[in-house]
Amino acid sequence: MVRTLRRTRCFAVLLVTALSAPVAGAALPTGTPPHAGHAAERAFIDALLARMTLEEKLGQLNQPRGLGNDTGPAAQAASEAQIGGGEVGSILGVDGARRTCELQRVAVQRSRLGIPLLFASDVIHGYRTVFPVPLGEAASFDPDEVAVAARHAAVEATAHGIHWTYAPMVDIARDPRWGRVVEGSGEDPYLGAAMAAARVRGFQGDDASSAPGSHLAAPDTLLATAKHFVGYGLAEGGRDYAGADLSERSLREVQLPPFKAAVAAGAQSVMAAFNEVSGIPMHANRGLLEGVLRGEWGWDGVLVSDYNGVQELMAHGVAATREDAGRLALRAGVDVDMVSRIYLSDLPAAVRAGRVPMAQVDAAVRRVLAAKLRLGLFDDPYRYCSDPARQEALTLTAESRAAARRMAQKSFVLLQNDGAVLPLSRSLRTLAVIGPLADHRRAMLGNWAVAAREEDAVTPLEGLRAALGMDTRLLVAQGAAIDGDDTSGFDQAVAAARQADAVVMFLGEHPDMSAEANNRSSLGLPGVQQQLALAVAATGKPVVVVLLNGRPLTIAPLQGKVPAILEAWFPGVEGGNAIADVLFGAADPSGKLPVTFPRNVGQVPIYYAHKNTGRPPSETEKYTSKYLDVAWTPLYVFGHGLGYTTYRYDPPRVSRPKLALDDLAQQVDVRVTNTGKRAGVEVVQLYLRDDVASVTRPVRQLRGFRRVPLQPGESRIVSFTLGFDDLAMYDEQMHQVVEPGTFTVFVGGSSSAEQSARFEVMAP
Ligand code: BGC
Repeated sequence: MVRTLRRTRCFAVLLVTALSAPVAGAALPTGTPPHAGHAAERAFIDALLARMTLEEKLGQLNQPRGLGNDTGPAAQAASEAQIGGGEVGSILGVDGARRTCELQRVAVQRSRLGIPLLFASDVIHGYRTVFPVPLGEAASFDPDEVAVAARHAAVEATAHGIHWTYAPMVDIARDPRWGRVVEGSGEDPYLGAAMAAARVRGFQGDDASSAPGSHLAAPDTLLATAKHFVGYGLAEGGRDYAGADLSERSLREVQLPPFKAAVAAGAQSVMAAFNEVSGIPMHANRGLLEGVLRGEWGWDGVLVSDYNGVQELMAHGVAATREDAGRLALRAGVDVDMVSRIYLSDLPAAVRAGRVPMAQVDAAVRRVLAAKLRLGLFDDPYRYCSDPARQEALTLTAESRAAARRMAQKSFVLLQNDGAVLPLSRSLRTLAVIGPLADHRRAMLGNWAVAAREEDAVTPLEGLRAALGMDTRLLVAQGAAIDGDDTSGFDQAVAAARQADAVVMFLGEHPDMSAEANNRSSLGLPGVQQQLALAVAATGKPVVVVLLNGRPLTIAPLQGKVPAILEAWFPGVEGGNAIADVLFGAADPSGKLPVTFPRNVGQVPIYYAHKNTGRPPSETEKYTSKYLDVAWTPLYVFGHGLGYTTYRYDPPRVSRPKLALDDLAQQVDVRVTNTGKRAGVEVVQLYLRDDVASVTRPVRQLRGFRRVPLQPGESRIVSFTLGFDDLAMYDEQMHQVVEPGTFTVFVGGSSSAEQSARFEVMAP
């Protein structure tokens, strides 16, 4: 029996924390409401709760939509009569200082208790200043830059009256058919956790100098929502909303870590997922919501349903009536009912008849009131909306555009660059610009940018024009549409290529081929774009393909034909400028893939942190785990991305070849050298493998990364520290342990890093 170092964890606790009943007849608090401090907060809320009728309480849990925000069946919009009647606690999808102030006034002046509203919205990757889609931002491997992007979004959105965003989406996605892969940080829980925490910090602000929680009262705090809890990214067949049959091991090792990181970073809100997990729809999943999220992790924020998610318990087949659905969701720990109105209309009778305990209603109301209190809304309900000049001044500023451009530059991934075609010279005489996305404004913005305006976006063609002098002639040809089978534009495109010194093609997906409900069963370039690329490449000219898309694409046929491929995702309002910066070398490409690119759709799911199996793939052995018709390896591995220079990694050195179980601190040093002629930024990555354990382990797992700028010829030693959390796994009894034995560290520029070192954790 191996002895291990073990960190105990409580198993899913199914008990709701009993909250004391309100003090009957308590007077409404007077004076300044408290900002922080649990006792003060509790006293304030107790007093308020004691004044509330059942309907007013359920009103606080009711979230209707504003106008024009439907991602499901049309729902009844919030009316002033309902707000004035105390039936509304928060609203989805109303923005603008003027309108939010108007509605806030109704809540404060006309409702009996004057409790302010919360305005919620999907501020996903920027607000008016649209940043790259989240998958693109993750490719930067730069959490600090991602936090800056989220901060800009928060400043703009809060100036437009919004208190609460439904972001970040932290679902781990390993099936690129699923449209929402674009909204997350890709396939890896370690990278996903870093991005989740960064976005929460950015949205909510993180003034470390203030008392814990008190910084939330700053008027540009945007409450962050980690979504969709949990397993949403595992949709079977890549079909959005489909369920997941999930082991506790992969739940804890793969799906939960980014949520845990978001919660640890202070996320004030979490959204339940539409899907079921192992037979229990998440909106009724008391074991995971009350048990893990609230019980095990001690989280006390607001749990919001997804759009109509409470009512959908009926379609799932676990609730026969609306009341059943509401009862199950409230009991599971869902505080806010987004758009189904079930809590408001169907729970009063159930509470009165004793079928729903009042304590469950009170617990949910407390959490909603606490969020309002923490934002300072009881102090000044109009603090987010009373200053239209602020809204004007903080929208689409030079600073936010500059941040969006920087973020976009860092998000691009140079997939290949045969013959060093890139960077292009600025003194080209003629440049052909080809493809359906070269001047496509929407494609800069992605599918889900609620406040985006097309006129704000700089297209690639505009970016190239701005970057090139008058001496370069641009020959522009669309060649083909994004989709469809019309090849009539090919000749013109090929003719333009023939006349040019170099060709840049903008290919990819329409933004509406990504995001919610936009799933695909094939992953190739849509329509005839691949044929177009091959026809243009056949001219023999230096051809660069820039991809604009929201998921990994199967572009194997371009390899060896098209010399340079740059993955640019949907890059935001400054996308066109950022693309020009990178194509001409004013900025270096430094992004790395946050998700594996398969060779064909039949390889899906394919991800780097897979298990070895008893018969690991071998080219020469028939009875090993692989395919007859395609290599088992991906087209581009997780973490892959080239620069305009080259790097050498020396073998890593571990500070302590042997570690004691009770002292697991390990330092890994690696020397990285820029061996090329240009400066560059390399994302140095560290992966770890637990060589032999009591349960099977992934072949390697990301455990560290660092962006390292290097001048030509410069060397740097990059140090990583590892500890319990990096070495730990869940054993057969699902205890988190570190087991004695050897571990291998791999260090390099992608998940296929080859330089390695080994150390041993000694048995006591
Ligand atoms: C999506 C959520 C989103 C909500 C509100 C739902 O359809 O799944 O991610 O926050 O709509 O717009």
